[in-house]
Amino acid sequence: QGALGNVWDDEMSSNMLGKRLRKVVQNYQAMNKYGVELSGPGGVATRPKLPPQPMISDLGPYKSCAVVSSAGSLRYSGLGKEIDSHDAVLRFNAAPTVGYEKDVGSKTTLRLLNSQVMASDDHRFLSSSLYSTGVLVAWDPAPFSADLSQWYNKTDYPIFAQYQRYRRLHPLQPFYILHPRFEWQLWQRIQDNMAEPIQKNPPSSGLLGTVMMMSLCEVVHVYEFLPSRRKTELCHYYQRFYDAACTLGAYHPLLYEKNLVKRMNQGVDQDIYTHGRVTLPGFITINC
Ligand code: C5P
Repeated sequence: QGALGNVWDDEMSSNMLGKRLRKVVQNYQAMNKYGVELSGPGGVATRPKLPPQPMISDLGPYKSCAVVSSAGSLRYSGLGKEIDSHDAVLRFNAAPTVGYEKDVGSKTTLRLLNSQVMASDDHRFLSSSLYSTGVLVAWDPAPFSADLSQWYNKTDYPIFAQYQRYRRLHPLQPFYILHPRFEWQLWQRIQDNMAEPIQKNPPSSGLLGTVMMMSLCEVVHVYEFLPSRRKTELCHYYQRFYDAACTLGAYHPLLYEKNLVKRMNQGVDQDIYTHGRVTLPGFITINC
């Protein structure tokens, strides 16, 4: 790795965070807002099973896909052409393409939205043209052990009211909602693979979307989730806001998400360093 400089180390732990971020993480741990219960090793029996049907049976399968994290390190990456060359491109939340085509491309096949973006006034979710291309998929943090109706009555943000409003305005645009079980199944998968307790909050949109694409695509390329040599504290490529928590996580167990993605990477470290690119196998190509 030496000559490459710093590529993500898949044994990152909370010790490596700065004092401030460590404190924020500790506070989230103490809060345990979603009532996460630790099953520890051997808790397999109580863990819910993945749904037998593919989540989005009307979509894909695609051969090659791109997942575009919204990281500031995409700025000046020149990755736009490469990103657009994939059969499907996933973007997140309010990430724009207009004005940033050179670095992030212009194709949007799917967009994964958190419920905060759907509900907050400043995103103008119902009226902004940002959301009118591609297939929309929304998610909202559910309580850890809630069933569908408990979640429906206790979403973090009013996702269902917004969903209905949006559908009335854009009846032809496909729009899915992630089953909340998926968040916590994935959370458990991360925890099972880490040596220390991870934040008891759902995984970030970035990992949720990456795993979603692994079920739709033969191969998934994720851009700037593991930071390249362009690593920066700039939070998003499209905003002038700086915070290391965007890349390392505070609320989300993002550090551990990245450890896991680093371990699953089938590409070489050089690709991470120069392109911020990891290559993950689609689930259909895995024999287990
Ligand atoms: O901030 P937002 O959730 O919209 O960004 C989309 C995803 O990109 C995040 O959920 C996170 O997984 C990833 N991201 C990152 N580093 C950043 C910004 C975003 O890894 N600096």
